[in-house]
Amino acid sequence: MLVLGIETSCDETGAALYHGRNGLLAHRLHSQVALHAPYGGVVPELASRDHVRRVLPLIEGVLEDAGCSLDDLGGVAYTAGPGLIGALMVGAATARALAWSRGLPAIAVHHMEAHLLAPLLEPDPPTFPFLALLVSGGHTMLVRVDGLGRYAVLGESLDDAAGEAFDKTAKLLGLGYPGGPALERLAGGGRPGRYDFPRPLLNRPGLDFSFSGLKTAVALAVAGAAGDRQARADLAHAFLEAVVDTLTGKCRRALEQTGLTCLVAAGGVSANLLLRERLRGMAAELGVRVCYPRPEFCTDNGAMIAYAGWRRLAAGLHEGLAIGVRARWGLDDLASVPA
Ligand code: KG4
Ligand code: ZN
Repeated sequence: MLVLGIETSCDETGAALYHGRNGLLAHRLHSQVALHAPYGGVVPELASRDHVRRVLPLIEGVLEDAGCSLDDLGGVAYTAGPGLIGALMVGAATARALAWSRGLPAIAVHHMEAHLLAPLLEPDPPTFPFLALLVSGGHTMLVRVDGLGRYAVLGESLDDAAGEAFDKTAKLLGLGYPGGPALERLAGGGRPGRYDFPRPLLNRPGLDFSFSGLKTAVALAVAGAAGDRQARADLAHAFLEAVVDTLTGKCRRALEQTGLTCLVAAGGVSANLLLRERLRGMAAELGVRVCYPRPEFCTDNGAMIAYAGWRRLAAGLHEGLAIGVRARWGLDDLASVPA
């Protein structure tokens, strides 16, 4: 079955084609980073308007790349949440209308499920059960994954998401939006020792996260580093170390507690090279396998939506004609899919 996947939950428009036997045939992405950069963050109304402009040309583009036509499609998948409602509605309405006009099944995809399944697009994919660290702009979660739709959230952020902490810290440092990649670059020139930020909740039991205290500590330090380039780089370095230490420490604890032997890290922040390296080191110590999506599939993309949609469509699931999208949607609310 050939599935078209459409992603429009935030500031990237993505389209992709996934084939059950032949794998990922094509994927295209339009990033709205330049559109939102002057505002220092995503402006929801501008995001929706841009998705409207981009989505059909992207769909035509992936069909062209794969040498396919709409006649070859067996189903259409779209991100139905969580995300910005107006942005989600663009992809959902496009996908649902396309499916209806061609008599095809359509499937609503949970954005975070798609993130956690993204490593299954890679060679040597993880096998169930595994532990997933989901770190994106809106979520930070540790999830026990026993199968498709069989998710138990073991811990999550009590305040800011990890990506949000990167974005806010980058803003404090005068870096552009999105902050993660820019902060990673600045931290590369930083030296250890000058700043030492807290590792929130690491010395307390449990698997929850908290990043707002760290952000406050950084805000205080930034005031003293104004105009000093090296101090700003040192500060970015210390912030990155604190976040990576916290995420790695909680993953170690979750692996020890669950006895799971495979760790998946996904979502935008999992593109961070220091995090990838430290998780790899920690996993090696515990004798645990660690799997990542390729960096371009860590951040939002259509490929993960096409893949997650294909898994559900292939199991016989599909939506009715009413189009529903959700700003908030718990991973544990998802229906499990028979193996
Ligand atoms: O998964 P994603 O593309 O969108 C959401 O679902 O939220 O994640 C975006 C987040 C942003 O906060 C961005 O700053 C962060 O991922 N990010 C990074 C890196 N690349 C993206 N954070 C740290 N290091 C990176 N290299
Ligand atoms: Zn995402």
